[in-house]
Amino acid sequence: MKISSSQMFRDISKWCFGALALLLFTGPFKAQAQGDALFKAKCATCHQVFKDGTGPKLYEVRQKWTDGGAAEGSIFQWVNNWKNAVAIDPYAKTVSNWSETAMSAFPELSKEQITSIFDWVDSQEQATTKNGGDPLSVSAVEQESSLSWAWIIMGVIFVVIILAVGGVRRQLKAASSEMEGKAIDDDMTYTDELKQWAWANRKVVVVGIISIVLGLVVALFLSLYSVGLVENYQPSQPISFPHSVHAGTNAIDCKYCHNSVTKSKSAGLPTVNVCMNCHKQISGETPEQQEQIQKIYDAAGYDPSGAGRYTGDTKEIIWNRVHVLPDHVYFNHSQHVEVGGVDCKQCHGDMEKMMETAKVQTIEDLNKVEGNIQLSKTTLTMGWCIECHKEKEISNGTLDTKKDGYYDEIHKRLMDGDKELYGKYLEDGKVTVMELGGWECAKCHY
Ligand code: HEC
Ligand code: HEC
Ligand code: HEC
Ligand code: HEC
Ligand code: HEC
Ligand code: HEC
Repeated sequence: MKISSSQMFRDISKWCFGALALLLFTGPFKAQAQGDALFKAKCATCHQVFKDGTGPKLYEVRQKWTDGGAAEGSIFQWVNNWKNAVAIDPYAKTVSNWSETAMSAFPELSKEQITSIFDWVDSQEQATTKNGGDPLSVSAVEQESSLSWAWIIMGVIFVVIILAVGGVRRQLKAASSEMEGKAIDDDMTYTDELKQWAWANRKVVVVGIISIVLGLVVALFLSLYSVGLVENYQPSQPISFPHSVHAGTNAIDCKYCHNSVTKSKSAGLPTVNVCMNCHKQISGETPEQQEQIQKIYDAAGYDPSGAGRYTGDTKEIIWNRVHVLPDHVYFNHSQHVEVGGVDCKQCHGDMEKMMETAKVQTIEDLNKVEGNIQLSKTTLTMGWCIECHKEKEISNGTLDTKKDGYYDEIHKRLMDGDKELYGKYLEDGKVTVMELGGWECAKCHY
């Protein structure tokens, strides 16, 4: 069977366009991710997807407003500033009576951003939220599926590229034997034909392959340095625990509560017994404080009135995770805090001043903290990790906290050892984490 080369060119261009379309296809993931991040950063403190909380559930709320006879577009005004919506739309007025609490205003959100929040909310599936719409677990499911999709798409494109490259290579061989004057088989198969076509149009093929590869690299890097998906994330917590009162005013050491931070991978959160060490005596002065501290007593099964006894009826305080890295990333606290000598502030900001519960600080806020190295990439993204690894200097010798001579040895070798071998590291007079291997993929990825 013979296929004309113009037909084949059309086929190949279809492939290329297909690959491009697939890349563009990741666009919706971005919009989804934006809605997800905005919801968590701005709305999740009061709203859940499927359950009423401080605010009503938001699932299909646009439909609800349309069905209820709301004025067109007033729901956007509501989010920007609910008072404006109430002024023009009687339906909004009825909504405002839902509870005593008033909603915050979000004048900074554009119509597209608000739409992305609603789209994300409506895309959630009830089935994944057996625990009643906890936004964290919903997003974990959603993130994972969009990530695996990205991998599948990339996998397919890579297979195509490898096949194409293999074809060109074999064609080169065929062409060289042709030049040596060897006879070519008349009964060429489809693949032979394809190879011959690819050889004849090698410029097109090469340009095609290069643009696909470039497209992939750009797409990958955009996602690695991605927009502020995680910054400002501040999930609601069972007890409104202020770091300012504890680590600030009362100057309690971070390690008193996060006691594995210098010893292991994770920092750890305090158990209720740690809280009870102090709160057995401190039950709070204002009604708000008493209400919060009562929750500690409920968890510990402690009866502060009367005999002040433990009843044995305990329940766990389930803190929502604030900082979450994907499963494929390895991050170790002791390596950074103990060995690397990096201060908590560098990555978590001024927790001593944090009057609300913890959140993922924006890179702008982290840069404002005194003594921090100035970085530019979004907190918790790969760009953030590797930028610091490029900037951060390993100072000479003083970091050898484990006293096992590991760093002494490295520094001796680097500083007065083989200048020729280590010259490229030393030319700028400093040794960075990167130069010790902090950019190797396998150091951070399982
Ligand atoms: C401080 C708490 C709070 C935050 C933060 C908050 N809301 Fe609300 N929201 C409320 C309350 C409370 C109501 C119910 C109206 C009332 O009682 O005043 C409400 C109502 C709504 C409604 C109408 C719901 C219905 O059933 O008709 C929408 C839509 C809405 N909020 C969207 C948002 C979005 C989007 C965000 C994030 C950008 C957000 N809210 C952030 C407290 C909040
Ligand atoms: C009295 C105990 C206590 C002390 C002291 C304390 N923390 Fe915490 N920390 C907590 C509790 C409880 C939480 C969970 C509630 C929350 O997320 O706000 C928490 C949460 C955090 C989180 C977010 C955890 C996550 O899920 O990602 C960070 C980061 C953090 N603390 C850092 C610090 C730093 C830095 C210091 C010292 C300046 C410090 N903490 C001192 C009790 C403490
Ligand atoms: C080392 C002692 C100590 C430990 C441990 C401790 N607290 Fe406190 N906590 C205090 C002090 C002191 C206050 C301030 C009380 C006051 O102002 O009357 C306080 C206040 C509070 C308040 C009220 C804050 C406010 O002003 O709104 C809450 C809530 C609270 N603690 C929760 C916790 C939780 C949860 C834990 C365990 C993770 C914990 N505390 C561990 C000493 C401690
Ligand atoms: C180099 C940056 C960096 C430094 C320095 C750092 N952290 Fe973290 N911290 C992180 C990252 C990244 C995560 C998320 C880890 C994950 O998801 O596996 C995290 C998570 C946490 C958590 C929540 C979950 C857990 O148990 O790991 C706490 C609590 C915490 N850090 C406290 C601290 C304290 C206290 C210090 C200082 C003694 C500190 N961190 C220093 C980057 C840092
Ligand atoms: C503020 C600077 C800073 C940030 C941000 C940072 N690191 Fe590091 N990292 C360091 C320093 C300093 C060391 C060197 C510790 C040492 O000497 O082993 C290090 C070492 C490491 C190592 C060991 C490298 C080796 O050669 O053995 C790994 C793995 C690592 N970091 C992972 C991460 C990940 C993952 C993130 C992002 C979530 C991150 N780091 C963010 C400063 C940082
Ligand atoms: C210093 C630590 C570090 C090093 C070195 C590192 N990564 Fe990453 N990588 C991360 C972190 C953290 C994330 C998660 C970022 C996020 O969730 O936004 C990540 C995510 C990724 C992702 C998933 C992209 C996504 O959108 O989630 C890929 C693919 C990836 N890295 C590839 C690589 C390759 C290839 C290398 C070697 C050239 C490498 N990484 C080296 C820390 C690192």
